[in-house]
Amino acid sequence: MNTINPAAIIYGHTIQVECPATVANLVCGFDILGMALNHPQDIMEMTLTDKPGIRITHTDGYDLPSDPAQNVAGAALLDLLQAADISIGIDLSITKMIKPGSGLGSSAASSAGAVVAANHLLGNPFSKEDLVRFAMAGEKVASGVKHADNITPCILGGVTLIRSIFPLDIVQLSAPQMYVTVVHPQIEVRTSDARQILRKEVLLKDAIKQWGNIAGLVAGFLKNDYGLISRSLEDVIIEPVRSMLIPGFDEVKSRSKEAGALGGGISGSGPSIFMLSQHADTAETIATIMQEIYTSLGIDFKTYVTTLNNQGVKIL
Ligand code: HSE
Repeated sequence: MNTINPAAIIYGHTIQVECPATVANLVCGFDILGMALNHPQDIMEMTLTDKPGIRITHTDGYDLPSDPAQNVAGAALLDLLQAADISIGIDLSITKMIKPGSGLGSSAASSAGAVVAANHLLGNPFSKEDLVRFAMAGEKVASGVKHADNITPCILGGVTLIRSIFPLDIVQLSAPQMYVTVVHPQIEVRTSDARQILRKEVLLKDAIKQWGNIAGLVAGFLKNDYGLISRSLEDVIIEPVRSMLIPGFDEVKSRSKEAGALGGGISGSGPSIFMLSQHADTAETIATIMQEIYTSLGIDFKTYVTTLNNQGVKIL
C-alpha cells in the first residue's frame, strides 16, 4: 500500500488541470490502442479540505450525476482514496469541453483528470500506472467495463498500447508528427450499446488480418513510416458492425482518403470519426469535406483539426 505523508498534503489550495480528449482503438486496436489530442480539453478545479467527502459540481450545463459513486470522476477518486487509506475532503469542479457520448474519451478525461489532480495535491504518492487503475473505475461506471484505452493516453499523453489490463501492462509508443481531423456528428451512440452489438466470436481469417494490421500500425508509429501506418489503418472486425450506427461514415472515410488522409475510422465507440494526415493542409481539407457531408445530411456536427498531445493531463 502507498503511504501518504500527511505533511505533503496540500489543503485549501485550488489547482486547475487540463484533460485532453482521446481517440481509442485507433481503428484496428479495439480496447488496446489510443492517442491523446490537443483539442478539445476539459478543465477541472480541485481543492482538498479537511471536511470528508467528495463534492462534485459541473459548470458546463451537462446533466451529469454529482453523487460520487455514480459520477465517473467520483468513482475514480473513491478508488484512489481507498488505496490512500485517508479520510479527506475533495471539492471538484468540472467544465466539460469534450461532450459526453462523443466517442472522444469524455468520461476518461473526467476520471483521469480527477486522479492526476488528487495525486498532485496528496504529494504524488501514486505512480501513473496506479492512476490508470483508479481511473478505470470511472470507465466501469460509464460503460459497464473497465477499459484503459482512453485513460492511458489521457494520463500519459501520446500514443499508448495496453498490452494487458489484468495485470496492467502499458507501453508508451513514439509516433511521427500527424494531424488529426475529427468530426462529431451530434447523434447519440452509447458506448454500452456500441459494445453490446459486437459479435462475440471472430473468424480466424479476420483475426489474422486484424493482428497483422495492429502489428503494422505499431511498427509504423515506431519507425515513422507513414505508408505502413496508412496501410494498417483497417478494421475488419469492429468497424463493419459499428459503422452502421453512424450516418455518413462510408462517405467521410472514402472522400478523406481521396483527399490524402493516411486513414482513420470511428473514434472510440463513436459517433465521432477521426482521420490522420501527414500534412496540416490535408487535415484542413478533410474538415471541409466532413462539414459538406454532414451539412448535406442535415445533421449538426462539430469538427476539430488538431495534433497529438504528448503531455497528457496537465496541471496548470
Ligand atoms: N475501446 C472502447 C470501445 C472505447 O470501443 O468500446 C470506448 O470509449
